[in-house]
Amino acid sequence: MGKQLAVLITGASGGFGIEFARQIEPLGYRLILHGRDLPRLKMTLGSLKHPERHKLIQADMNAKTGITSLLESVADEQLVGLVNNAGFGIWGSFEKTGIVPQIDVIKTDLKAPIAITHALLPCLMKNRGFIINVSSLAGEAPLPYMSTYAAAKTGLTYWSEALRFELAGKVRVVTLAPGPSPTGFRDVSGMPSGPGSFFRTPIALIVEASLKKLASGGGYCVPGWRHKLLFLLQKIVPRSLALKIMEGHLRP
Ligand SMILES: NC(=O)c1ccc[n+]([C@@H]2O[C@H](COP(=O)([O-])OP(=O)(O)OC[C@H]3O[C@@H](n4cnc5c(N)ncnc54)[C@H](OP(=O)(O)O)[C@@H]3O)[C@@H](O)[C@H]2O)c1
Repeated sequence: MGKQLAVLITGASGGFGIEFARQIEPLGYRLILHGRDLPRLKMTLGSLKHPERHKLIQADMNAKTGITSLLESVADEQLVGLVNNAGFGIWGSFEKTGIVPQIDVIKTDLKAPIAITHALLPCLMKNRGFIINVSSLAGEAPLPYMSTYAAAKTGLTYWSEALRFELAGKVRVVTLAPGPSPTGFRDVSGMPSGPGSFFRTPIALIVEASLKKLASGGGYCVPGWRHKLLFLLQKIVPRSLALKIMEGHLRP
């Protein structure tokens, strides 16, 4: 009997990643759960119905051998799905933020999904599988004080959307573009916790919307009415005004 079809979820020790694991498990797949923080990865595993079916992988996308070791760990798997979810942003003035964390944002949020997808594509194509790229509405507009993050997510969105058309009929692709959401993202970015943004949308609703989009054949997914409203504003407010508003909102 062949090995069970598997789905690799990167960043499964955090907010969206945990929810992807919970919502994809009932579809019957073996889950390969990736993260850096082993105790939190084990908590994700413990929250699932069939922990014995799944596997954990620890890898730092910014480390020299991080992506290679992740790929080695899934070499024997029958992958049918890939959720490129691991990512982080840093908040602060470009001038005062060190170059290493800025480049690490590019490595984790843009380079890693491209490298991992390229390596796993033959298997995903063979299994007529799917890819969900967790981008952001930060990929739709320049963001002062989160400039490198917005640049990485813009790159991810454009790459993912182009890939969606290249792979049509072979592998389904969802480009997920959420706005503010209650995960660990804000703390990791260094942004002080303030009042929740009006646009904040529940994690479960966001993941559910992306899986619905996948079931309908793939596409660009802005989840929930609050994020859809934010997306609409990004499209109709002139860029110079939007930049002024965001500069005021995000200024340290
Ligand atoms: N929350 C939001 O407002 C929001 C909005 C739009 C898009 N997003 C995107 O959603 C995705 C998931 O983030 P989240 O919001 O769920 O935040 P989170 O709770 O902080 O989770 C981030 C996940 O990414 C992993 N990760 C971060 N840096 C990594 C690295 N160098 N190597 C390997 N794994 C790394 C983390 O692993 P460890 O914790 O184990 O290190 C964690 O599992 C990200 O791509 C983020 O950009 C978030």
